[in-house]
Amino acid sequence: MLSTLSLAGVALGVANLLPFAAAQDPTYSMVFNHQGANFFNNWNFYDGWDVNNTGTVEFQTQDASQQLGLISLNSAGNTIIKVDNTTSGVGNASFLRPSVKILTDYTLSSGNLLLFDAVHMPFGCSVWPAFWSQGPAWPDDGEIDIMEGVNLQVKNDISLHTLDGCKHPDAGVQAFETGNLVSTDCFNQTDFNQGCIVEVATAGYGADFASAGGGVYAMLWNDTGLTFWFFQRGSIPADLPTTNPNPAGWGNPTAYYPQSSCDFNTFFKPQTFIIDITLCGNFAGQPNVFSQTCSGTCLDLVPIPTNFDDAYFEISYMRVFQQTNGSAPSTTPAGTALPTGGSGGVGTVTVTAASSGANGESTTTAKTGAALPSMSFSALTLGACLLLEIVAVGFVQGFRL
Ligand SMILES: *[C@@H]1O[C@H](CO)[C@@H](O)[C@H](O)[C@H]1NC(C)=O
Ligand SMILES: *[C@@H]1O[C@H](CO)[C@@H](O)[C@H](O)[C@H]1NC(C)=O
Ligand SMILES: *[C@@H]1O[C@H](CO)[C@@H](O)[C@H](O)[C@H]1NC(C)=O
Ligand SMILES: *[C@@H]1O[C@H](CO)[C@@H](O)[C@H](O)[C@H]1NC(C)=O
Ligand SMILES: *[C@@H]1O[C@H](CO)[C@@H](O)[C@H](O)[C@H]1NC(C)=O
Ligand SMILES: *[C@@H]1O[C@H](CO)[C@@H](O)[C@H](O)[C@H]1NC(C)=O
Repeated sequence: MLSTLSLAGVALGVANLLPFAAAQDPTYSMVFNHQGANFFNNWNFYDGWDVNNTGTVEFQTQDASQQLGLISLNSAGNTIIKVDNTTSGVGNASFLRPSVKILTDYTLSSGNLLLFDAVHMPFGCSVWPAFWSQGPAWPDDGEIDIMEGVNLQVKNDISLHTLDGCKHPDAGVQAFETGNLVSTDCFNQTDFNQGCIVEVATAGYGADFASAGGGVYAMLWNDTGLTFWFFQRGSIPADLPTTNPNPAGWGNPTAYYPQSSCDFNTFFKPQTFIIDITLCGNFAGQPNVFSQTCSGTCLDLVPIPTNFDDAYFEISYMRVFQQTNGSAPSTTPAGTALPTGGSGGVGTVTVTAASSGANGESTTTAKTGAALPSMSFSALTLGACLLLEIVAVGFVQGFRL
């Protein structure tokens, strides 16, 4: 019987002979593919007022969103999520514009890779969209903002919000980051909850993002920390949209929050991801923020539907992967039938009961179909992958002897 040690040695030797992918790079298996007709599987629609952000919207159920045309699939097969731009609220002092807020019914944590490809993000005076996440309690369990902006801003701020003690390294320490460091302290009580912000330098948000054809935001959470990349439409790595993305080859990150300056085990719990669009409220509507890119008074804009023609997401896909293991082959040696995916591994996608949203919000269930993506997904565990690999090793050894 082979010991683990000698088996590892044998596997290493064979990796040099067979067309395995670089053995040292972790591999990733897709666990959720939100795309096309399956986009809204595994999301909950939050139904109600925007209590904590005080936005002038009323979030709708999935059925109401469909009826009001706030969610749809366009002719390109992309998902549209938008603010109502047909209802007039003129003369109605209690008007709240219909909008959408959706939360994943699963959580992500260390070991997960998230990809978000969009061709348009909402913008316009009074508009405040975000693609973000939070843990069960705020700010105790952390908040991650991958994409957030307000009004006519054209730059995107990636940021974290936490309890006291989590930081982004000081300016100059991580010169390899392509984003611009704006603030280092993630503590929610520093600078009015500004967060630790790295700004995407070019076309990351708003009109600039849309006119450049959009792009992809990627987030990798592993034991080393949180790494973010933004790729403009023409610069997306070839492997990124495949079933075998390899972040190790994606070059310098846009933003990097290392474990050494933020203990993610302490400041972050598994995160629920959220897509929402609100209006005005305590960010976009703050007079000193609003006046940076827009004129007049935020609330005066809400009743007029034509102000919201650009207030929509057009999303190609959102994909969630989980890290399997650095030694799992991503190229199948000829003649063997290795599975293309696995559900085991170091990543943990926790599929939780579809009843409670972040912030303790009551949510309605959005499940409309199968839980797993339309792409081929094998339920074999990592152990099974490794077992097949060992069989292949045995075969090669026999062949060589
Ligand atoms: C005013 O707006 C509220 C909230 O959007 C809505 O429920 C109500 O029906 C509107 N009233 C009229 C008269 O349109
Ligand atoms: C920061 O979080 C604490 C709870 O830990 C809360 O009481 C406080 O209001 C928050 N501050 C800001 C500016 O959000
Ligand atoms: C985490 O991901 C980064 C970026 O790809 C990589 O440099 C680092 O080695 C990874 N850490 C681990 C523990 O896999
Ligand atoms: C609403 O916005 C969409 C784009 O999101 C646009 O096609 C449409 O013409 C706008 N106006 C109305 C009345 O629907
Ligand atoms: C692969 O799994 C083993 C056992 O869990 C672990 O020690 C090793 O660090 C993993 N390698 C990578 C690259 O994740
Ligand atoms: C608003 O925030 C508080 C404090 O974090 C939280 O307890 C509550 O559930 C939140 N409510 C909603 C509707 O988001």
